[in-house]
Order: sequence, then structure tokens, then C-alpha cells
Amino acid sequence: MKTINYQWLDAAGAQQELAALCNVLDGCVAQGASIGFVKRDAQQMNHFWQDVVLSLACGDKQLLVARCEERIVGTVMLVLAMPANGVHRAEVVKLLVHPDARRSGIARALMQQAEARAGQLGRSLLVLDTRSGDVAEPLYRSLGWQTAGQIPGYARSTAGVMDATTVMYKAIGPAD
Ligand SMILES: CC(C)(COP(=O)(O)OP(=O)(O)OC[C@H]1O[C@@H](n2cnc3c(N)ncnc32)[C@H](O)[C@@H]1OP(=O)(O)O)[C@@H](O)C(=O)NCCC(=O)NCCS
Repeated sequence: MKTINYQWLDAAGAQQELAALCNVLDGCVAQGASIGFVKRDAQQMNHFWQDVVLSLACGDKQLLVARCEERIVGTVMLVLAMPANGVHRAEVVKLLVHPDARRSGIARALMQQAEARAGQLGRSLLVLDTRSGDVAEPLYRSLGWQTAGQIPGYARSTAGVMDATTVMYKAIGPAD
């Protein structure tokens, strides 16, 4: 079994790895993942990660990657930019594992490390949303996430269908 390394990337690190980050995103969209894209569009994906680089630079987001033999195979991000009354919250977004690297515990490890980091940053409440019925839902539940509810017709799939989303949360510390 190959060793997986996990690393928090800063803006310069992410900029250097743009092609690899796009590759993970593209691999997921190609398999029909509901992650904000309705088709494989290299330019849109590049813009997406360029925006992330800017957010990393100003501290609005943090990006954790998983590497297998140096190649980035997985990502997860913490969104830290919150309104003044919500600075105890963080949102977890873009949990992505390249199709070649799935079912070996990478997503679980990414989530555990992201949750730990959010706690270190003083965030006590985590939120996310995920397409209802996706394989990520049981993963989140097994990590102690609760379902707040479902929103029908939330996002268009790569197949053109309007999918419901499940909004989830996890308290990782005492509310102030
Ligand atoms: C969801 C995703 C991140 C899981 O990545 P992964 O590294 O394969 O997941 P793990 O190996 O850590 O599996 C963790 C758990 O997820 C669930 N799971 C993951 N893939 C599954 C599958 N194909 N079928 C059923 N359950 C699955 C299982 O509960 C699994 O636990 P187990 O191995 O003990 O049974 C990956 O499939 C992916 O990138 N999908 C596309 C992007 C996406 O939809 N991300 C979620 C956005 S909210």
C-alpha cells in the first residue's frame, strides 16, 4: 500500500500545483460529482483554483491536500471568511479524491485533519452541504456529522438533473 502524505498548502504552494489541483477537480467532474461544475471546462477549473490562491493569500480559506508519491490526489478546504457573528464557524468544501485513489481512506483522513485544524483555529461549529444520496453522506455521518435538512432542486448535475442537497453540521467545541 502506498504512503499518503497530507500537507496544508499556502498560496504559493497552491499556485505551483494549479495543474495538479485542476486534474483532481476534472477527474471528479468527469465522474459526475456535484461540486459546482456542470461540465469539464479547463478554463473554469483554472479560474476556480486561481480564486482559491487569492483566498489562501488573504486567509479566507485553508487548503489541505493529500499526496501519493508526490502527486496530489485529494483536497479539502476550510472556508474561514465569516460574518462578524459567525467567526466561530467554518465551512468544509471541495472534499475531492481523484477516482484513481478512492476507497483507501483518503477522504476520511482529509476530513479528520480538516476538523482538527478548524478546532485549532478556534472554530467550534462546522457546516457543509453535499448532494443527497452521494457516497460522501455516510462518510460524514460516520465522522459524527448531523443532518440539518434537505433542500430539493439545489444544484444541477452534470447530467442536467436538479439534485437535492443535504445540509450537515458538526459541533467540535463548546458554543460561546
Ligand atoms: C466522496 C469521496 C471524497 C470519498 O473519497 P474516498 O477517499 O474514496 O473515501 P474513503 O476511502 O475515505 O471512504 C470513506 C467512507 O466514505 C464512504 N464511501 C466512499 N466511497 C464510497 C462508495 N463508492 N460507495 C459507498 N460508500 C463509499 C464509505 O462510508 C467509506 O467508509 P468505509 O471505507 O469504511 O466503508 C470521493 O468519492 C469523491 O471525491 N467524490 C467526488 C467528489 C465529491 O462528491 N465530494 C463530496 C463533496 S460534498
